[in-house]
Amino acid sequence: MYKITRRVFDLSRRLAGLFQGRTTANDWETGMALAEDSVASIVDGSALPLAGEVALVTGSGRGLGRAIAEKLNSLGAHIVLHDINEDAPARFGEAESLSALAKALRSDTAEAVAVTGDVSNDVAVDELVARAQKMLGPISILVNCAGGDIGADGNKPSPSSPTNFKLEDVHAVMNRNLIGTMLMCRAVAPRMAEENKGSIINIGSILAHRGGSIEIGYACAKAAIVHYTRCLASELRESGVRANVISPGPTKTARFLATRETSAAMHNEGPSLIRYAHPAEVAAAVSFFAGPSSRFISGQVMLVDGADGLYAA
Ligand SMILES: NC(=O)c1ccc[n+]([C@@H]2O[C@H](COP(=O)([O-])OP(=O)(O)OC[C@H]3O[C@@H](n4cnc5c(N)ncnc54)[C@H](O)[C@@H]3O)[C@@H](O)[C@H]2O)c1
Repeated sequence: MYKITRRVFDLSRRLAGLFQGRTTANDWETGMALAEDSVASIVDGSALPLAGEVALVTGSGRGLGRAIAEKLNSLGAHIVLHDINEDAPARFGEAESLSALAKALRSDTAEAVAVTGDVSNDVAVDELVARAQKMLGPISILVNCAGGDIGADGNKPSPSSPTNFKLEDVHAVMNRNLIGTMLMCRAVAPRMAEENKGSIINIGSILAHRGGSIEIGYACAKAAIVHYTRCLASELRESGVRANVISPGPTKTARFLATRETSAAMHNEGPSLIRYAHPAEVAAAVSFFAGPSSRFISGQVMLVDGADGLYAA
């Protein structure tokens, strides 16, 4: 967007100069060449900030992951959609299937493909990353969004307090959040480091940052993702590859709405920040870490929670 705006600005300055008699025929020709170049780059998508990037977003069949994939796609990136299986998008009625979503995203300027696999299984992770890179080339943006507070039986764990939890739920939640993120980074980051190019964005949660007595396995898994990301950013520093965390507050995804009682007041659409987030608001923050505007920022955590949790450390 910056490049388009800059070119339109340059062009309008030259045309304004021409009409005020300060511009020569030579300037006019340069201006027209600039205009043709701008139009061409807008049409072929190369003016978009993420043009040519290959973004793999885990858990992008639905919810937040899907909104992130759509945002990165709108900024020009080729997209690898991913989910645990083809049918995951249909679970809460968001889309028919993963491949249907990929088809809908595909355009003349940006490719979209789909891969499936359990992120907590190391063999599946290595295979899905290899498949993705075979189809679209080296991954340059990795967003680890697969996860959530989903226990061993596929539902929200209960009980789930520090002194009252089921071990199988804690294992399941750790596996789909922390272990999945670590395995994906292990599979993707070395190639990024070889290419000296890449941005990794891991999805945390505000529960990673505050002590509380609920969702204990989930809160600990997300806190560990924050720490893992800092360690990863440190290891990758010399290669130029970056790793950051986005920690969303409660966000109105279909699963979020279907799996709890929500507060009517928190659905307000007024100016107040005391409300649930929209998935697109979280996706916008992810796109900042994915793109060139954050090129010297790594190992950081951005809370997208409307100032719900303000922490000194
Ligand atoms: N919605 C919120 O309020 C909220 C707040 C903070 C953080 N988050 C985080 O955002 C992410 C997305 O949440 P959401 O609300 O969109 O939920 P969601 O359930 O709609 O999306 C999670 C996706 O991850 C996939 N997934 C789960 N386990 C997997 C596994 N083992 N292997 C492969 N894929 C797997 C699911 O199939 C699903 O597509 C999660 O990491 C969640 O913890 C959500």
